[in-house]
Amino acid sequence: MKIDKKPNPLIETLERKRAEAKLGGGQERIGKQHSKNKLTARERIDILLDKKSFVEMDMFVKHRSHDFGMEEKRYPSDGVVTGYGTIDKRKVFVFSQDFTVFGGSLSEAFAEKICKIMDMAMKVGAPVIGLNDSGGARIQEGVVSLAGYADIFLRNTLASGVIPQISAVLGPCAGGAVYSPAITDFILMAKKTSHMFVTGPNVVKTVTHEEVSMENLGGADTHASKSGVSHFACENEVEVIQTIRRLISYMPLNNMEDAPIIKSNDNPNRADEKLDNLIPENPNKPYDMHKVIELVMDKNSFLEVHKDFAQNIICGFARLDGRSVGIVANQPAHLAGVLDIDSSTKAGRFVRFLDAFNIPIITFEDVPGFLPGTDQEWRGIIKNGAKLLYAYCEATVPKITVITRKAYGGAYDVMSSKHIRGDLNFAWPTAEIAVMGPKGAVEIIWKKDIANANNPDKKMAELVQKYREKFANPYIAAERGYIDDVIEPHETRFRLISGLELLSTKVDTNPKKKHGNIPL
Ligand code: HXC
Repeated sequence: MKIDKKPNPLIETLERKRAEAKLGGGQERIGKQHSKNKLTARERIDILLDKKSFVEMDMFVKHRSHDFGMEEKRYPSDGVVTGYGTIDKRKVFVFSQDFTVFGGSLSEAFAEKICKIMDMAMKVGAPVIGLNDSGGARIQEGVVSLAGYADIFLRNTLASGVIPQISAVLGPCAGGAVYSPAITDFILMAKKTSHMFVTGPNVVKTVTHEEVSMENLGGADTHASKSGVSHFACENEVEVIQTIRRLISYMPLNNMEDAPIIKSNDNPNRADEKLDNLIPENPNKPYDMHKVIELVMDKNSFLEVHKDFAQNIICGFARLDGRSVGIVANQPAHLAGVLDIDSSTKAGRFVRFLDAFNIPIITFEDVPGFLPGTDQEWRGIIKNGAKLLYAYCEATVPKITVITRKAYGGAYDVMSSKHIRGDLNFAWPTAEIAVMGPKGAVEIIWKKDIANANNPDKKMAELVQKYREKFANPYIAAERGYIDDVIEPHETRFRLISGLELLSTKVDTNPKKKHGNIPL
């Protein structure tokens, strides 16, 4: 129906003001943004949210600064676009920093806008997604800007574990500004256009005399592979934003809900016989644990988190018969799947996210133990390994463990063993559950016998075989009920799905306390 539109000066004023706000820092600066291969704040929101679902708030907010001629430069929205909308019809809040207005720098008013949507997100129980692209504190506003950051940090912390918080870094993010994304649950960066650092290359050069490029110091690859600050390094901004949409699909909107079940076309009874021949006969030979995950989970449902960091452990989301799960899996194809500082902190943080948001944990275990050496000891493998142990111990969500091969030593206890409240613990017939590997064990307990033997090598081989027969299997643990069943590998999918169904009504709690003291 055609509406006969009469001229209305009030409406025209509103339309003019809206159009002005949508231009941010103006066409010229938008052109500059595009020339750097970057999208504008509003273009990013358009890709992130369902079509026409975005409702903008505080479009007309302007800064209140009068120093350095700032009263002459007042842009509506003041450098950050905020509001709410939907992803796959589920509500989310978003703020998107606008680099075309004072380089996306954070003013008092800018911080107030972000705090407003964070407060609302906490009240209604919906995730907050932050799209960061900013030159940091608004220099002209001084300490008021620093106060604004602190207001956001406090809210990030109070919201942690209540609503999911996701940060995309799509431009500069420097100085103290990095600490808001750092507190949130997941960070995503785009290669070449995103940079995060506490101090930039110039300061680094002055202080440490190191010459380093922006990209090498704090680019997406650096943070995804070296520091582990970023969970995803995407090829470009569009990939970052699409990954956020996917990531959100595995999570509940808040800690009082369960993650959505998405109908699966994959047969829950699918039994893949390839699993039965996946473990090499030689226990020292690697295999790719990704293969196990791929064959067991719903087809194409696996989204790996921290793919390029501490690759000796695999973390990621997947679905089993449509139900969201988090996977933690030792990776024998990288450093033999050993637990070290990076893999322990990576998996520990992931386990805590899953537990906070009611997502069941599936653990695939093939671990030869903790990594020995001065580097690890001096950097604190003790306290860092303890983080993963602590995280598993305190987790009350459904926990199902499958031991595919090695479960040695302390690492056996750590990886969601029965003793730390694993709900269902299965082992494949190839499992070796023991204090240590056969060779190491033999060298300790039969040291003298080997030294005194006519043929030490032959003696050693005999004893290794003896030890292997006695301990390198799942049946001693099964005799004691430390594992609930020995299953054929091809049964794994079905057993996990029926286990999750069983545990869907699980209730478990921890003692009442203010909070625990995880070994940081
Ligand atoms: C005010 C800023 C600004 C800032 C950039 N601009 N950063 N305005 N405060 N922090 C403005 C510029 O004046 C310019 O305005 C526009 O944004 C684009 O900046 P350019 O320098 O032209 O862009 P580019 O060459 O791409 O360089 C981007 C940049 C650089 C690397 C971010 O601008 C820069 O180094 N800015 C300062 C970064 C910084 O030191 N911030 C404070 C960090 S301390 P016009 O009008 O020309 O478009 C901090 C503490 C937080 O953030 C503490 C929290 C606890």
